[in-house]
Amino acid sequence: MLDKIKEIYQEIDQYNVTSKEQLEQFRMRYISRKGVVTELFEGLKSIPTEDRRAVGQELNGLKNLAQARFDEFNAHVEEQASTNSAPPVDLTLPTVPNLTGNQHPLVLVRQQIIQIFERIGFNVVDGPEIETDWYNFGALNFPVNHPARDMQDTFFVEKSSSDSSADVLLRTHTSNVQTRLMERQRNAAPGTFQPIRSIMPGRVYRNETISARAHCMFHQVEGIYIDRNVGFKDLKDTLYHFVKEMFEPGTQIRFRPSYFPFTEPSAEIDISCQICGGKGCNICKQSGWVEIAGSGMVDPQVLINCGIDPEEYTGFAFGMGIERITQLKFVVNDLRLYTENDVRFLRQFEGV
Ligand code: PHE
Repeated sequence: MLDKIKEIYQEIDQYNVTSKEQLEQFRMRYISRKGVVTELFEGLKSIPTEDRRAVGQELNGLKNLAQARFDEFNAHVEEQASTNSAPPVDLTLPTVPNLTGNQHPLVLVRQQIIQIFERIGFNVVDGPEIETDWYNFGALNFPVNHPARDMQDTFFVEKSSSDSSADVLLRTHTSNVQTRLMERQRNAAPGTFQPIRSIMPGRVYRNETISARAHCMFHQVEGIYIDRNVGFKDLKDTLYHFVKEMFEPGTQIRFRPSYFPFTEPSAEIDISCQICGGKGCNICKQSGWVEIAGSGMVDPQVLINCGIDPEEYTGFAFGMGIERITQLKFVVNDLRLYTENDVRFLRQFEGV
């Protein structure tokens, strides 16, 4: 009996299994109730009592070995099956593209506006978003406590009840950069003034309820040109050029008389509606025209406020909203889309 056990030990030791079928054969022979090991256990009855214990121990060892080998083979066969069923790797497949972000439509349009003006000699100037009353209003001819200030609903950082010239506020337009720039260019060298041809893009704030048509924060690009002999014709030429570069060929432009405290004369600039081509639609309120900018000749008093001699220098200024231009170029009809950062909106500007 012990010899037989030894023989089976060796058999199991040398056994190798590489397929499911072989695994089943192994199970039938060594594990199942009809297998050799069970058979040997049955033979135990005929072993003399004094040897039975020792032989029984050997048999138990054999049984355990058979089970351990079975588990080992089973794991191996299963592992093979799972790797075999994986699809073959196709090395010729193109790689999955790495998704990169894209620029926000307002950034795209701002860049385009900047490029157009840079090509005709304007440089970009920056300034603070938190501003004193003087640079945002006072120097621009909004008299203290004058109702003209109500044209732009203001967020105040510090508000004095008696003296509005002491107020600190969030700028309502980027014209604050114009007043700062005029002052700086006058101070560049004592008694001189360095001419200005600059644009000032940036965020501005107005106390408005957020809706499809209004927002409390938006973006402007304003511009100013001050030198000797700058006239209204220069203003018109510059803005004609801008419209021609920015919008569809054939876009019409018109100047409409208007009022701003800091320019005289003043004009608002309309273009033929980009959406309906001038026939009339919701965007242009059926008029065929949409307003894109305010403009005018810098009021002599503003030049005086900034220390520039209006007898020697003249200039023009303009200002436009980037959201408005973007709306016309890309038919974005709800201002809130610009700040909600919904990727379904933003992704539409991929590759633009
Ligand atoms: N600052 C004006 C606004 O924000 C725009 C403007 C700028 C108008 C320059 C005329 C000249 O409404």
